[in-house]
Amino acid sequence: MRLSLRMWIVSVVVLTQLVNGALCWGKEGHYTVCKIAEGYFEEETIAAVKKLLPESAQGDLATFCSWPDEIKKLSQWQWTSTLHYVNTPEYRCNYEYCRDCHDTQKHKDWCVTGAIFNYTNQLMSASENSQSIVYYNLTEALLFLSHYMGDVHQPLHTGFLGDLGGNTIIVHWYHHKTNLHHVWDNMIIESALNTYYNSSLSLMIQALQAKLTNGWSNDVPLWESCQLNQTACPNQYASESIDLACKYAYKNATPGTTLGDDYFLSRLPVVEKRLAQGGIRLAATLNRIFSAKAKLSGS
Ligand code: ADE
Ligand code: ZN
Ligand code: ZN
Repeated sequence: MRLSLRMWIVSVVVLTQLVNGALCWGKEGHYTVCKIAEGYFEEETIAAVKKLLPESAQGDLATFCSWPDEIKKLSQWQWTSTLHYVNTPEYRCNYEYCRDCHDTQKHKDWCVTGAIFNYTNQLMSASENSQSIVYYNLTEALLFLSHYMGDVHQPLHTGFLGDLGGNTIIVHWYHHKTNLHHVWDNMIIESALNTYYNSSLSLMIQALQAKLTNGWSNDVPLWESCQLNQTACPNQYASESIDLACKYAYKNATPGTTLGDDYFLSRLPVVEKRLAQGGIRLAATLNRIFSAKAKLSGS
């Protein structure tokens, strides 16, 4: 089959846009994760976050949680772009840190779970030792940790390498041509906003907050806990994500499929739970980080 030059150019432009256009949870997803987290911050965390954010933010972390997506294409920040996800080998529905957490050149630790460990350690060492404040930009550490904690809960941010976490799987979302990754970052949330929440993100967040205090209240302590008394446990979250990717995201979503009501209604509860878990775990991680300082100083 021979393609005309025009067709070649069009195909290359479309493919490049589909792959490069890949963000993470969209702005709404990240805002939701961070807003939910804010409601579970302990006193030391509220104070530390306020100190680290610019004055204009007035302590509102949520408005800054998409910042790592906004900067990742700039040349000086391009090194951060592989830190938004982790890939498993083709059709492997499990995740292993040593096997999977690397970039395309096999540099170890360059993936979303490695980034969560790294920024947790930076913030912890600053809590324990004020010299670290000189070495690390702790405002950046807080924003990256908050953003990547959201990303690791998006099931396709632990997706197969072969399809770039669903980015190369072209599907229709109702009448709209898109890719599977974008469906999970944005479309399910946008459709939920339009269908159930009168296009209001704060109404959706309120509904999730209500579920956290009613339906999910027994689960919250389990979500918060981290094995072996660790400060952060992103490996557990990535394992859950690839399991959900296989059971819900990739399932019945092969290239060329039209995804409509059946897919939307059965996957929305998964998206809602992952946004809520991301928020609870971000708060729990920041609370563990910032309470360490208070404990050390005996206050
Ligand atoms: N976003 C861009 N590339 C990705 C990949 N390989 N896996 C998941 N998300 C991505
Ligand atoms: Zn991201
Ligand atoms: Zn994404």
